[in-house]
Amino acid sequence: MHQNKNQNKHFHIPVLSTHVLQYLDPQAGETYLDLTAGYGGHASLILERTLHAPSSLVDRDTNAVEYLTEAYRAQPSVKILHDDFMNASEQLLKTGKRFDLILADLGVSSPHLNIAERGFSIQQDGPLDMRMDQTQDLTAATIVNTWSEAELKSLIQKYGEDPRSSVIARHIVENRPFATTKELADSVAGILKRGRSYGKTRIHPATRLFQALRMRVNDELEQLAQSLPMWLELLNPGGRLAVISFHSLEDRLVKRVFTEHGGDRYDADVRILTPRPVVADAHEIVFNPRSRSAKLRAVVKIKNQK
Ligand SMILES: C[S@@+](CC[C@H](N)C(=O)[O-])C[C@H]1O[C@@H](n2cnc3c(N)ncnc32)[C@H](O)[C@@H]1O
Repeated sequence: MHQNKNQNKHFHIPVLSTHVLQYLDPQAGETYLDLTAGYGGHASLILERTLHAPSSLVDRDTNAVEYLTEAYRAQPSVKILHDDFMNASEQLLKTGKRFDLILADLGVSSPHLNIAERGFSIQQDGPLDMRMDQTQDLTAATIVNTWSEAELKSLIQKYGEDPRSSVIARHIVENRPFATTKELADSVAGILKRGRSYGKTRIHPATRLFQALRMRVNDELEQLAQSLPMWLELLNPGGRLAVISFHSLEDRLVKRVFTEHGGDRYDADVRILTPRPVVADAHEIVFNPRSRSAKLRAVVKIKNQK
């Protein structure tokens, strides 16, 4: 049964969903903001518990937005917004909107990785694209084929945390242009000999390069850094925020902002619900390998704050 589901290119299994429900604890009538609604996996679980109270579902991907618009056509209380979450959060704050439940499940969805034409996958050949929002200009091809060696090195070091950033950057500059994901991945793999091993799974040698390109094309860390304080502001008193990240740089950022606003300070805005990040158990990892690197952190807004 699971195999059939996974064969559907548009299927995405929501990660850590039991924990999301535990920490958000949705109640009938509570308002919900989903900043990365994707194909609505978490959203449907939450909305069935809030009884479709007023909600906003945000995604920057036009395919996801089309899907959500169709899925919630009969529910006018559920608003679908095509936007990045930084801009959407600014607009919601400006209009004075506040929510009882907020979720951000960061990164890409399974359809991004499964549809070769989106250019995210190392495993399947596609154009060097990697844009979550198909309407933006910057693609991975622009970075790979036009950035200087120094810029590429710094990118691979910063977002890929790859110790071989100099070698990879030089190789790219000397061998470009690259048109497809496979051309780039095979070429880089050729100079990096063998994959590193993480436990029993071998990862492709170009994994960190692909990760770095994706993070830059979609401005992922900057979006998160600018948005986290706004999400705390968007919470009603007593409201809960959960953030699921898949990268140590993201998790560090979430932890830092939660600690700055929470912790033991007398004037804390929030109480931290997860002293340590919540991770998937062995069963979930087998059922949904994407959950392997997921980390969930959650806070509740302190009631007597403005
Ligand atoms: C991990 S998936 C979310 C899956 C969703 N929770 C579910 O259960 O179906 C992440 C989604 O967030 C979107 N996304 C990532 N970064 C975004 C951003 N900065 N602004 C808006 N959407 C973003 C992606 O397009 C993708 O659809």
